[in-house]
Amino acid sequence: MKAKFKTMLYGGDYNPEQWPREVWQQDMELFEKAHLNSATVNVFSWARIQPSEETYDFSELDDIVDTLTKSGKQIVLATATAALPSWMVKRYPQVARVDYEGRRHKFGQRHNACPNSPMYQHFVAELTARLAQRYGKNENVVCWHINNEYGGECHCENCEKAFRVWLRKKYGTIPALNRAWNLAFWGHTIYEWDEVVLPNALSEGISRPDGEEPGSERTAFAGMSIDYRRFMSDSLLNNFRLERDTIRQYDQDTVITTNLMGTYKGLDYFRWAKEMDIVSWDNYPSYDTPWSLTAMRHDLMRGLKGAPFMLMEQTPSQQNWQPYNSLKKPGQMRAQSWQTVAHGADTVQFFQLRRSVGGCEKFHGAVIAHAGSDQTRVFREVAQLGEELERIGDTMIGSRTEAKAAIIFDWDNYWALEYTSGPNQDLKYVDQILRYYEYFYRKNIAVDLIPVDGDFSSYDLVVAPVLYMVKEGMQEELESFVAAGGVFVTGFMSGIVNESDNVHLGGYPGPLRALAGIWAEEIDALAPEQSNVVLFHDGTSSPCEMLCDLIHLEGAEAVAHYGQDFYAGMPALTRNHFGKGVVYYIGTVLAEEGLKQALGLACKEARIASVLEEETELEVTRRISEQIAIYFVINLKERALPLPKVFAGKQDLLTGRTAEEGEMLQKYDVRIFLEQNA
Ligand code: GLA
Ligand code: ZN
Repeated sequence: MKAKFKTMLYGGDYNPEQWPREVWQQDMELFEKAHLNSATVNVFSWARIQPSEETYDFSELDDIVDTLTKSGKQIVLATATAALPSWMVKRYPQVARVDYEGRRHKFGQRHNACPNSPMYQHFVAELTARLAQRYGKNENVVCWHINNEYGGECHCENCEKAFRVWLRKKYGTIPALNRAWNLAFWGHTIYEWDEVVLPNALSEGISRPDGEEPGSERTAFAGMSIDYRRFMSDSLLNNFRLERDTIRQYDQDTVITTNLMGTYKGLDYFRWAKEMDIVSWDNYPSYDTPWSLTAMRHDLMRGLKGAPFMLMEQTPSQQNWQPYNSLKKPGQMRAQSWQTVAHGADTVQFFQLRRSVGGCEKFHGAVIAHAGSDQTRVFREVAQLGEELERIGDTMIGSRTEAKAAIIFDWDNYWALEYTSGPNQDLKYVDQILRYYEYFYRKNIAVDLIPVDGDFSSYDLVVAPVLYMVKEGMQEELESFVAAGGVFVTGFMSGIVNESDNVHLGGYPGPLRALAGIWAEEIDALAPEQSNVVLFHDGTSSPCEMLCDLIHLEGAEAVAHYGQDFYAGMPALTRNHFGKGVVYYIGTVLAEEGLKQALGLACKEARIASVLEEETELEVTRRISEQIAIYFVINLKERALPLPKVFAGKQDLLTGRTAEEGEMLQKYDVRIFLEQNA
């Protein structure tokens, strides 16, 4: 297989089939001016290349591929299977999904094929085979882009049947299923496989605590709903694998990907990544998304395979689908793009190259605006970045991020934590992970986001916030990591349930109890207007909120205790020796300063170092290869900030200028420094 890209791809989604031919030529000229070297085509052209069940027509796609090839562009070729042609839904209505409320959808929209429809699978395989046969050996096709942003769910009868098959394979017998889902609760015991129904608004969906209608987030049986999520993720993954394997019959060389969506909840991306040659993802922060969250999503996407990834989409200027689609300010797109590369991207691609004339995305930004010219601010910024990437981008391809600290991210836990009824509806998985991530982000400490079954041994510090579900084997893995000298941080809402969402009996945090050396007897829930205070034994204090574990020490020492309520004086933060290592248990949702202090202790204990010694509010990251280390210094703050002293006297790759001591980086300024490894 072609291992990696020879050049850093700079391009994006391009839909020439929506335009007359004269425009294509203008596009080629403009792409040249913008230093674009690639285009992603055929994302939504199924109706175009298969106008009826019996006919395929590749003449237009041939011309598109030709046009791009002649102008020397590398092509990311999509398989077009994410939007169904009208004839298919008319003739085979079962290809369309049934939603959570049980309504069968009609023709329309996109990303809405039933993943378990044999008809859909049949047409997908046919189309993909033809595409791979026709274009797989084309030198300019450098990447296959399967489908588009897989996601969502289906509740049709076919899926229900497939769910039963999936369950049977997993549990084997009805009694095992009854036990796993604890169906003795509310007398839901089943006797035959065909009594299993999909958990949705017509079955196990329950109202939210605020009294709103059932939503897919609430269920009477979390274990059942988590299995449904796993099943749906697998069903869609099977669609991906079907296309991938079909392509591989005709093309053994070209890398295959599908565009993921960061912290998107619906799919277990760690499972997906195992099936993908390279991870790619679409980054759409809104005007108020913290840069730390964007950074975390990049790190998660890099963590999926522990390897560089593709940025498949970002907008050069604005979106259309958010409530407030602010423009990216001058320099912001460039800073955002370099941030992406800094965190491990080997491509920078846009949605979209030309702004569409109609449909719901006509207000979505593009390299070429409705004015159709290169005389726009956005075009100039795209061209500037293009020039920079052309000049120095390839130096970075394939280089890696080296981290000694890791945070566990796990989709089973994401689902389980948010399905729970109680103790506090405000507890959200990604929010909590982000709060811990931010500590590392602000200190410019490289951190990997790793799966629960990752290899912990290459890290000195592993942090597992809200590790609510502890699956089989995990206790042993964590214990051997700590016993060998690792530092482990966990805390409230951890170790509570097993993989079927049944409680680990014997006291919280279940399998983590010996490791943490504590017993959490009760969990208090605090409403938004309530808080407590945590008193550290060095005399400092910090507010805390949302949840408070009432902790008894069982070998651990208390590092801080609660200051208020009937549990004032009980431990809130503990430290335990286990083998050669140490475990911190953070029993409550600490305010920023408290969390900083707690994680500071753990980092010190694990001797975790920042990318640079000097404290700075600039974002500083490093990618390394055998020969070089590249430092990315970016100002994502509202005000000018001084360049850290260590970079003085070094040459900035972007401008060729030697950096001076005390020089200021304005908002969105970027500097890149390269060091040869000794
Ligand atoms: C997604 C899709 C694209 C487009 C963009 C708009 O990422 O993959 O087709 O709709 O959103 O932001
Ligand atoms: Zn279905």
